[in-house]
Amino acid sequence: MHPVPPESGLPSADTAVRLERVVKTYRDQPVLREVSLAIQRGEFLTLLGPSGCGKTTLLNLIAGFAEADRGEVFIDGQPVTSEPPHRRQIGLVFQNYALFPHMTVERNIGYGLRMQRVPKDEEARRVQEAMALVKLDGLGHRKPRELSGGQQQRVALARALVIQPKVLLLDEPFSALDKNLRGAMQVEIREIQRRLGLTTVFVTHDQGEALAMSDRIAVMSGGVIRQIAPPTELYQHPQDPFVASFLGDVNILPAHYHAKSAGDVQLRLGSGLISLPPARLLHSAHEGARLDVYVRPEHLRLENLHAASVLSGTVVNHVFQGDHVDTFVDVDLPMTARQILTVRHPGPGAMQQWPVGSVAGLALSHESVSVFSPER
Ligand SMILES: Nc1ncnc2c1ncn2[C@@H]1O[C@H](COP(=O)(O)OP(=O)(O)OP(=O)(O)O)[C@@H](O)[C@H]1O
Ligand SMILES: [Mg+2]
Repeated sequence: MHPVPPESGLPSADTAVRLERVVKTYRDQPVLREVSLAIQRGEFLTLLGPSGCGKTTLLNLIAGFAEADRGEVFIDGQPVTSEPPHRRQIGLVFQNYALFPHMTVERNIGYGLRMQRVPKDEEARRVQEAMALVKLDGLGHRKPRELSGGQQQRVALARALVIQPKVLLLDEPFSALDKNLRGAMQVEIREIQRRLGLTTVFVTHDQGEALAMSDRIAVMSGGVIRQIAPPTELYQHPQDPFVASFLGDVNILPAHYHAKSAGDVQLRLGSGLISLPPARLLHSAHEGARLDVYVRPEHLRLENLHAASVLSGTVVNHVFQGDHVDTFVDVDLPMTARQILTVRHPGPGAMQQWPVGSVAGLALSHESVSVFSPER
C-alpha cells in the first residue's frame, strides 16, 4: 500500500509532503528532533500526541509559519524551506477558526482567492462551489457571529478548500464542538477529503478520532515520531511502550523471560508460564530478564479458576459503558503485590456471570500481547 517506507523520508512520485531530518528549537529547547516524514498524495495522515509534543510546530513548518533550524521541507518534490506561506498553496483550519468577524461568510471564504487576484466572477463561482461542498448554502451573507460553532467551522473549512490547496492542514479543528457535532464533522471532512483526493495532515490528541479517521497515524512524543502506521497496525503492533499505552487502554503485567521452546518464547507470568510468538517480544532478552507484558482489556478473559490458570483474582467492580462492560479484577502478582486489571466484555452478561466478590481465573490471548523491557 505504501511503496516507500514513510519513515525513510525517501522521495517518491507519490509523495506530496516530505520532511527531511527537520530540527526546530525554541529558546534552546528542542521541539522537533530530526523528524523525517513522507506523506503520500491523497493520504489522510494524523499527528497524535500529548500536549507540547510538537504537533502544531510540525504543521507550522509545512505551512511556512515557522522555519526549521536544520533539515528540509518539500512539497510536491520542491524544496519550500525558504518559501513564504502564501507561496505554498496550503489550506489551513485551526481550532479557533480565525474568521474575519467584520466580513460576511462569502467574503471570508473568498479571502484567499482575492489574495491570489482571481477575477471577481471566478471568485463568486468558486465560493459558491465551496459553500455547497461544506453545506453552507444560503448563509453567504451572514457574519460569523450569526453562525453556530459548527457552521463557523464549515466556513473555515470552505475558506481552506476554495484555493484548491496542495495540502490541507487541520489543527484540532473539532475541539470546540460538542461530541455529536464532532462525530458528524469527522465523517463529513473525511468524505470531502476522499472525494477531492486531498492530501491532509490532521492534528488531534483524541485517540478515538485518530483511529476513526486516518489512513496512517504518526504518534509523537517529545519532538519525535515514535511510530507511524495505519490505525489497526498501531493498535495491534505498537513498537514501544509509549505507543502501546497512548493508543487504547492497556494492562501492564510484570513477567520474566524463561526460554525459547519450539519457536515460541516462554515467559514466566503470575503462577505459571505462557508461550508467545517471538514477534510479540520487541526486545532481545536473556533468561530471567524482567519484561512487561502489555495486554488490552479486550484480550483478557475471565474463566473458571483451574490448575493451569496463570492469573487469578477477585472481581471488585463492573462499569457498564453501553456498548461494553469493564470488569475490574484485583489480582495477586509477584513483584507488584496486587494490581487491578481491566477486563473488557462486549456485552453486560459478565455482570451476572461474575458478580462482585467472585474469584476467577484470567486468560490472555497470547497472540495479542506486546512485550517490552520495563521503562526506566
Ligand atoms: N513560538 C514559540 N516560542 C517558544 N516556544 C514555542 C513556540 N511555539 C511552540 N513552542 C513550544 O514548543 C513545544 C511544542 O509546541 P507545539 O505547539 O508544537 O505543541 P503541540 O503538540 O501542538 O501541543 P498542543 O496539543 O498543546 O497543541 C511546547 O513546549 C511549546 O511551548
Ligand atoms: Mg497544538
